[in-house]
Amino acid sequence: MRIYINGKFYAKDEAKVSVFDHGYLYGDGIYETLRGYEGVVFKLDEHIARLMRSASMIMLELPMDAAGFADAVNRTVAENGLSDAYIRITVSRGPGELGLDPALCPEPTVVIMAKELRPYPPEMYANGIKASVVRTRRNSPDALDPAIKSTNFLNNILAKVEAKAAGAVEGIMLNHDGHVAEGTISNVFMVEGGTLFTPPAEAGILVGVTRDLVITLAGTLGMQAREELFLPERLLSADEVFITNTTMEVMPVTDIDGRPAGGGSAGVVAVRLREAYAGEVRRCLKAR
Ligand code: PDD
Repeated sequence: MRIYINGKFYAKDEAKVSVFDHGYLYGDGIYETLRGYEGVVFKLDEHIARLMRSASMIMLELPMDAAGFADAVNRTVAENGLSDAYIRITVSRGPGELGLDPALCPEPTVVIMAKELRPYPPEMYANGIKASVVRTRRNSPDALDPAIKSTNFLNNILAKVEAKAAGAVEGIMLNHDGHVAEGTISNVFMVEGGTLFTPPAEAGILVGVTRDLVITLAGTLGMQAREELFLPERLLSADEVFITNTTMEVMPVTDIDGRPAGGGSAGVVAVRLREAYAGEVRRCLKAR
């Protein structure tokens, strides 16, 4: 594995950042997870646009423009000779003296890692996964806005620990009003009477790149998609529940805290959306 740090590639054992990096000391940084298919990075521009939004929301001046990041990501995938890739861009505030002031850190640290993607097992897509509605609430947007894809991830980590203890693969987090917000690393959807529902940005979520694409694909399949606040109880009576993110694409949820969701089996809408998603990937590969 060859890792990109501030413009140069290093072997895994040589890839190091300072213990004074405020990313390490204070969780002061942002990141993106991307996926490559056959060496082509999917939705690269969208992920970089979100990275730039996250940067501006934490007043972090990036050392490169969008084209610079796109080039660095593509070079990292090529340097590692990857086809199907799991890619992570991390930008931290950089090394500086102890203290919270970002002005202590003159140079941000940019790290790009890419490794072979280990896909989720087919049984998970076929049977659906277990989820748990966790007690840990999603950060309030007026405290630490979930729209910032921050390396400060303890909120989600605590939720993940709870979900794991409940025997679930993903934790569903509520916002401070008790409405469904999102998963620890995913967005949440449900299907009711042929209509797709997902919490709106105002619920306090990270607006996923996959979420946006799924909403668009639903339209092409003739389905209505509505961004609407809803309570967790609605998930149990919905026809289908699924979650989305860059690495899992569209994943059915068939069990929530030991109760069947979507009748306890993976639904047709999730399957059709995942097929449409694969079609979109093929279209991108052809267009390269
Ligand atoms: N997570 N919500 C949260 C809190 C997330 O961390 C993610 C992504 C998403 C879905 O976003 P997207 O569709 O753009 O991947 C929603 C990535 C996969 C991660 O943390 O590695």
